[in-house]
Amino acid sequence: MRVTIYEVGPRDGLQNEDVVVPVEVKREFIGRLADAGLTTIEATSFVHPTWVPQLADAAELLDGLRRVPGVRYPVLVPNERGLDRALEHGVTEIAIFGSATETFARRNLNRSLDSQFEMFEPVVARALEHGLRVRAYVSMCFADPWEGQVAPAQVVRVGRRLLDLGCYELSLGDTIGVGTPAHVTALLEAFGAEGVGPERLAVHFHDTYGQALANTLTALRMGVTTVDASTGGIGGCPYAKSATGNLATEDLVWMLDGLGIETGVDLRSLTATSLWLAGKLGRPSPSRVVQALAKEI
Ligand code: HMG
Ligand code: MG
Repeated sequence: MRVTIYEVGPRDGLQNEDVVVPVEVKREFIGRLADAGLTTIEATSFVHPTWVPQLADAAELLDGLRRVPGVRYPVLVPNERGLDRALEHGVTEIAIFGSATETFARRNLNRSLDSQFEMFEPVVARALEHGLRVRAYVSMCFADPWEGQVAPAQVVRVGRRLLDLGCYELSLGDTIGVGTPAHVTALLEAFGAEGVGPERLAVHFHDTYGQALANTLTALRMGVTTVDASTGGIGGCPYAKSATGNLATEDLVWMLDGLGIETGVDLRSLTATSLWLAGKLGRPSPSRVVQALAKEI
């Protein structure tokens, strides 16, 4: 078995830092991730720059990025304006990001739940015409800070509509990190019952309540083979109060190595990158594996 790690540190990680990281540090971060063996690295977002000032330098970042052959560098795109900007800067892969709940759709996208699809539809259609690959995220798959628990059926309804636009994969986001393994099982079963199998799904766990690794193992056992993670465990969503860092890529790689599952990632080199980045961010990495290995590096 091989697991694909979809690295989101440069996007989900850096979008939530108080400091705006200089563009050359971001480029070095992404370069180090590729050198450590990661093959899918979500580089940045073409969202409204006043909504996420931390990633306002998306165009500049991509223009000067050293691209390693064989590595994919998807970016987040919410609307046609974002797609135009992404196309101008050589992007070949994008991700749209929908919400399973009404409140978060309004807070994160300034749209109602239903009208988010009107925003995404022309983005996906035009991206496919240009030969781009399009992934979809769905956020608040487990609970929402304003609406409470979210029923699997609601997530499946939204997820299905996003996939039907023409997306190759749906990443299930536990944006605020409250999910637990039984809930993961119920959600994946609900997708399966509607004909969406684990080969079309990825998982995106934030680690707020320390459940990300247990949830990931549950998903792997149910056949999911793409896992989103953030080097050093940085991350969160500025529009979801109480969201903290993503599952740390190092924690994931440690577990996968132990299970004998191939990732192609060099754990020591990744950890060294997190220690280097922590120096730039002015705070230690929350990853347990980074903290443990730091003593040896
Ligand atoms: P809006 O204000 O409703 O946009 O924002 P609008 O369509 O009304 O346009 C207003 C103005 O903004 C126009 O300019 C547009 O051109 C401009 P004007 O004509 O007034 O001069 N504009 C843009 N400029 C640059 N780039 C753009 C863009 N779009 C419009 N793309 C919008 C709507 C969706 C853009 C806004 O709400 C937004 O940017 N939201 C993004 C929020 C965000 O990035 N959140 C974090 C990512 S999601 C996440 O982290 C969750 C995830 O990790 C999964 C999980 O954990 O669950 C993926
Ligand atoms: Mg996220």
